[in-house]
Amino acid sequence: MFARIPFRGPEQSPAFLTGPFRPVLSKPAIKAVISSNLTDLSRIYEDGVNLCVIERLMPKAVEQFIYQALQGVGSIEVSQPVDPMSFDFGRLWPQASHLPGYGAWLDDLTMLISLFCDLFECREAGLRLLSLDKAMCPRFHVDRGPVRLVCSYGGIGTEWLPEYALDRRKLGMGGLGKPDNESGLITDPTAIRQMPAFALGLMKGENWAGNEGQGLVHRSPQPTAAQPRRLLLTLDLL
Ligand SMILES: [Fe+2]
Repeated sequence: MFARIPFRGPEQSPAFLTGPFRPVLSKPAIKAVISSNLTDLSRIYEDGVNLCVIERLMPKAVEQFIYQALQGVGSIEVSQPVDPMSFDFGRLWPQASHLPGYGAWLDDLTMLISLFCDLFECREAGLRLLSLDKAMCPRFHVDRGPVRLVCSYGGIGTEWLPEYALDRRKLGMGGLGKPDNESGLITDPTAIRQMPAFALGLMKGENWAGNEGQGLVHRSPQPTAAQPRRLLLTLDLL
């Protein structure tokens, strides 16, 4: 259905770049796609697009399940490869399986993993499912992998920076160990974006061929008093 993901390999310099004459290559402007249409996830294949956010409304049953599960069931931490055709989703969170809406939530999870595998033509996805009460990656950064899908089920979503509001020279070591609000990385603090709860965020990383130096800059949100916990799903290529 979709083209295979263009991983960046170690020896991918085209032959014409190794000769004595090097053409000036210009990269397209970096942009994010914000949509409410699931099919727009495929726009991640466009050059210059380093993020697709698909905003979604969840059935009430799923919202209530997440709320009750985060309130009373305790934590979950799952990390494993999942083949959506054979995986027994019913065993994923047995402590929460008695709650109303568990089946509806599993249906959504199954759909997302199938969609991810379809999009990247892979049989398995690397699933992580975590309940979090603190920021897992509190500083803005880029991912080294080619692409990752994130979804905050309930609670608050991943924060990201549009290109015009950041100085990439201050990423990582360039930030000299200073916090984000002092390192100079953020050139316009009013531009910090947050993915809504239940939205899908498909984030292109540094290892997607042609995306070097253009990986999406993002970080985990700080929990708030009103939303102290969230359930985070991430899907990675294996
Ligand atoms: Fe990350």
